[in-house]
Amino acid sequence: MHVTGDTVPAVMLDGVSFAYPGGPAALEDATLAVERGSFVGIAGPNGGGKTTLLRLALGLERPATGTVLLHGRPPGTRGGPRVGYLPQRAHLTAGSPVTVREIVSAGRLAVRGAFGPLRAVDRAAVAAAIERVGLAERADVPLRTLSGGMQQRAFIAKALAAEPALLALDEPTTGVDAASQETLAALLDELRRELGVTVLYVSHEFGAVEHVVTRLLLVRGRITFDGLPSELPGHLHDPSHVH
Ligand SMILES: Nc1ncnc2c1ncn2[C@@H]1O[C@H](COP(=O)(O)OP(=O)(O)OP(=O)(O)O)[C@@H](O)[C@H]1O
Ligand SMILES: [Mg+2]
Repeated sequence: MHVTGDTVPAVMLDGVSFAYPGGPAALEDATLAVERGSFVGIAGPNGGGKTTLLRLALGLERPATGTVLLHGRPPGTRGGPRVGYLPQRAHLTAGSPVTVREIVSAGRLAVRGAFGPLRAVDRAAVAAAIERVGLAERADVPLRTLSGGMQQRAFIAKALAAEPALLALDEPTTGVDAASQETLAALLDELRRELGVTVLYVSHEFGAVEHVVTRLLLVRGRITFDGLPSELPGHLHDPSHVH
């Protein structure tokens, strides 16, 4: 049962500004309400504040001014949404023998907040996440033996093992080939449609997700565009090249 109605935004930022210690403003006056079940693409130049925006939205950084709410509650408080987060440049130490299932299980442990053997319900959630990203047949092989695209899917499965209502992915396709980008876009679209997961997706490469995002943000020290991809002014049409 939801304490709050489904009309409460998944993510709400109101007048949020933030600077790293001793630095200039990384993000100024960001105001945003993300509907549940939307797929928000976040683009903009290097250093524009995309990662900072994501981290503020998830409560990993605290705003200098302004308010952040997830499902109507401050991030990290009881009753808020489960969050799956794929940080920028998530990668594996070369030579690590860790398997797909072990990586994904780590995502489940994070939500259980306890150590020790996973219970049947947790193992089932891990298996379901692996199945969802199409790695069932590779579940018990070392991650390092898989292609870059498959490794990225394993990290997505790690985020999914928490059964998140909100999934935040920061540059999930860096170093991943075009076909794998398409697969990932289709998977995220499916999660949104079937499970109502809200997706925040930061990327420089928008080709693969342009047709599945329901909303696009451009971030360049502040939110400089917020709307449908089709509403993007022509001169901004390649979001990775906004300078
Ligand atoms: N940990 C940090 N300490 C100090 N300054 C930081 C830190 N992280 C980011 N910054 C600065 O904050 C600003 C916004 O950075 P941020 O990483 O959010 O941008 P980004 O849009 O994600 O960039 P990229 O496309 O390179 O990932 C930049 O000026 C950056 O140098
Ligand atoms: Mg970044």
